[in-house]
Amino acid sequence: MAESNRSHLLVTGAAGFIGANFVRHRLALCPHERIVALDALTYAGNRANLAGLEDAGRMTFVQGDIRDGGLMERLLRDHGIGTIVHFAAESHVDRSISGPDAFIDTNIVGTHSLLKAARAVWLGATRHAHRFHHVSTDEVYGSLGAGDPAFAEENQYQPNSPYSASKAASDHLVRAYHHTFGLEVTTSNCSNNYGPYQFPEKLIPLMMVNILHGKPLPVYGDGMNVRDWLYVEDHCRGISLILDRGRIGEVYNIGGNNERPNIEIVNRLCAMIDERFARDPGLAKRFGGAPAAKGEKSASLITYVKDRPGHDRRYAIDARKAESELGYRPAETFETGFAKTIDWYLANEAWWRGVMDGSYRSWIETNYAHRTGSPAAASVA
Ligand code: NAD
Ligand code: DAU
Repeated sequence: MAESNRSHLLVTGAAGFIGANFVRHRLALCPHERIVALDALTYAGNRANLAGLEDAGRMTFVQGDIRDGGLMERLLRDHGIGTIVHFAAESHVDRSISGPDAFIDTNIVGTHSLLKAARAVWLGATRHAHRFHHVSTDEVYGSLGAGDPAFAEENQYQPNSPYSASKAASDHLVRAYHHTFGLEVTTSNCSNNYGPYQFPEKLIPLMMVNILHGKPLPVYGDGMNVRDWLYVEDHCRGISLILDRGRIGEVYNIGGNNERPNIEIVNRLCAMIDERFARDPGLAKRFGGAPAAKGEKSASLITYVKDRPGHDRRYAIDARKAESELGYRPAETFETGFAKTIDWYLANEAWWRGVMDGSYRSWIETNYAHRTGSPAAASVA
């Protein structure tokens, strides 16, 4: 076995939204590090998210499943991996409601398979230098009322969806492997990320793509559910701080200090797209179906639809522990992060068209049809 080296990273879920942003961020931040980028390439994983990164010779892509324990052990040994950053998961709450099984398989069984491999390789006959960082979510803490304090690390777990329950189970397994076997772990629980490479099933990119095609914007319930929006690069910086300065066995919450009701997000997105069409006549030529191409308001597409079952009302993160211990602070305001995101999607039409293939379209059309009562209203470009 190659001697384990903390500078050799295995990043799971590397071709997903946050994983790919993290690989880009970390390669730029740490020029001496090497990354094995592992991903099963489910509907949410795309090689295009890592385009150009292999050329410099510091990143190797491996298509594989975290549930394949033999493969996990081989990768750890063959590449002398000393750090795992574990993103791989089924991540979309709506999908966990229509089909929970995959969430149990990947998020619980898959995380356990990775923990077992890490234990076998790092804590076998010889103990090797190592770190297992687990990426989790604020959803494990449940739902807040309007006046409740934000989620702190000590909050009780009260997961409400099959997705958050599966993430909670994985968090407990990570904790147990530290407590029982001495595996050197850290965990981060963060709020809603947004930014480049986010798959267009999540609120912001879905609304964006629908606006550009003049499709209805399905707002669940009364649109007043609140999320704490975190620009993905800020999340990646938070994880890097934990890897470099975090205390073993600790949990850190990472947030964006940006609580907003969904309807405010959608209205702002509409207004910013209208403003960009007004500035750039080329957009009307590219996206003739958009209301702004005809001098109409994007907000005219807003359609209130049946609520998500069990829909959590409010999430908010108290990130004071990461701030005081690690010096974490989000660099982007909502205004700057949002503007960057919109401009990225407008500039990367080929990317989002490429990832929205047939299987994705058919899922989204069935899933959203029941909310709007009209398949046409639900469909995407
Ligand atoms: P994503 O769905 O965009 O990406 C997940 C990636 O994991 C995909 O590339 C997929 O192919 C891969 N994957 C799935 N099953 C796999 C398996 N069995 N083996 C190997 N790879 C597999 O998700 P994301 O939004 O990038 O989220 C990444 C992590 O961050 C997840 O653990 C999620 O729970 C957590 N998280 C996400 C957010 C958010 O706002 N997106 C917020 C908090 C926490
Ligand atoms: O809080 C962190 C979590 O954020 C992560 O753990 C999850 O992986 C990630 O998917 C995200 O979960 P949410 O359910 O909050 O994100 P989503 O983008 O699906 O929805 C955001 C809010 O917008 C939520 O209140 C539901 C609402 N919504 C969503 C969609 C897709 C709508 O109103 N309409 C929609 O079409």
